[in-house]
Amino acid sequence: MNKPLDEQTGFALSTAGAAQVEALVAQYPTKASALMPCIWVIMDEFGYVSEAGVDFLSDKLELTRARVYEVLTFYAMFRTEPQAEYTLQVCHNISCHVMGARPIIAHLEKRLGIRLGETTPDGKFAIEGVECLGACGLGPCLQLGKHLYEHLTSEKIDDLLDSLRKGVVPRADTDRGPRVGGETS
Ligand code: FES
Repeated sequence: MNKPLDEQTGFALSTAGAAQVEALVAQYPTKASALMPCIWVIMDEFGYVSEAGVDFLSDKLELTRARVYEVLTFYAMFRTEPQAEYTLQVCHNISCHVMGARPIIAHLEKRLGIRLGETTPDGKFAIEGVECLGACGLGPCLQLGKHLYEHLTSEKIDDLLDSLRKGVVPRADTDRGPRVGGETS
């Protein structure tokens, strides 16, 4: 008989996270359909999906590890390595560029004292340029995990950074994450 999963992989979700995964698996018509929402549960808990997390998903959802990695590495918001506390992913593709992404990136760089692709020395913030966040009419925009901030201005960036420095993730314009059961927001 197999050992319990966390003994096999060293991977363990919190009780709440494990319950969320169980609810998601029960909610979807096939286990495979729950892959992205389950990735979000792990992302919310650890900030990234480790190899042990991939093993967990592969076992739980009866998918190959290759399939889990395929989805995990396709989307810019999912991570397979530990990250800065707050990784700000700014779209610099054409629509957002036209709408003013460059000055927004420059403002972020100035406020944080780092360049695009760098992490602050305290590990709190990182800025990344990404190609498209699927919100081309709402630019310039940035993504923080599952939170999307749209129509960015310097003032909006200042408010966001001030809030994050206090440990508070401000309400996003759009949230992209798992919906469990009857959740509506
Ligand atoms: S070009 Fe920026 S979201 Fe698509």
